[in-house]
Amino acid sequence: MTSPAALRTIAVCNRKGGAGKTTTSVNVAAELAHLGWRVLLLDLDSQGHCAVGLGDKLAPGAATVHGLFTDPEARLIDTVRASAYPNLALAAANQLFEHGSGSRDELRLARALADPALAERFDLVVIDTPPSLDLLLFNALSAAHFVLVPFVPHPLSYEGVRQLMRVLLRIMSKQNPGLKLLGFLPTMATAHIRQHRTVTGDVARQYGAPRVLGAIRTDIKLAESFAAGMPARYYAPGCRGALDYAALALSITQLLGDPRAQAPR
Ligand SMILES: Nc1ncnc2c1ncn2[C@@H]1O[C@H](COP(=O)(O)OP(=O)(O)O)[C@@H](O)[C@H]1O
Ligand SMILES: [Mg+2]
Repeated sequence: MTSPAALRTIAVCNRKGGAGKTTTSVNVAAELAHLGWRVLLLDLDSQGHCAVGLGDKLAPGAATVHGLFTDPEARLIDTVRASAYPNLALAAANQLFEHGSGSRDELRLARALADPALAERFDLVVIDTPPSLDLLLFNALSAAHFVLVPFVPHPLSYEGVRQLMRVLLRIMSKQNPGLKLLGFLPTMATAHIRQHRTVTGDVARQYGAPRVLGAIRTDIKLAESFAAGMPARYYAPGCRGALDYAALALSITQLLGDPRAQAPR
């Protein structure tokens, strides 16, 4: 049996909407799954966009991640849904969940993820988070081993990154000392726009150049593939967005180390 310690968790966070969190969660999860990781994409945002991005239509009353916050007995494993893509499963959001309702427990998700039944089925959990500094985000950060911060390299997004970093430092000093910053990910980047280079350079100077991951370029195919309910690599193989997310998945695999090398199947 795989030891529970082998289950790694990456939270994809930025308190701004439109930063590319969901696009990154879906595509990075699909790319890591393609590399052979057994991935659970976990949607904490009640907009429910991860299910849309995988073309999964939930029946009314289906078990969701948000059920954890209304039922203390609920188990994450019971919310897991197979996807149409190899090695990739979804724990979907409840679109009717009202932010601010339910349990106030910041460690509810961390406890749910400690279930050995999950570590037997998955190597990696990718958590998509809501664009807010609320209890759901604290749950994600308290449960995660790593944080990935997508940001649009635009002057207005810099303040959002700084706010998130303050929250991260607080969580690292209290609830989750083991939490590590995986990196900042420029999204919707256009190399020839000076503003993009300036903002990415500011983030690199403030937090260290190695923390800035290879950018995801602007690619309409990413928006189209999302609307079609498919990760980009399956919708438009070889498109810029798919190539950039494939390269990101390789960097993440290197940064994480590969537990599958040691974990017996
Ligand atoms: N690299 C990209 N190129 C073009 N469009 C993108 C890219 N990344 C995201 N988008 C589009 O931008 C919008 C916001 O992205 P999304 O991932 O939903 O952000 P968030 O989850 O942070 O709110 C969506 O319409 C998405 O399709
Ligand atoms: Mg989103």
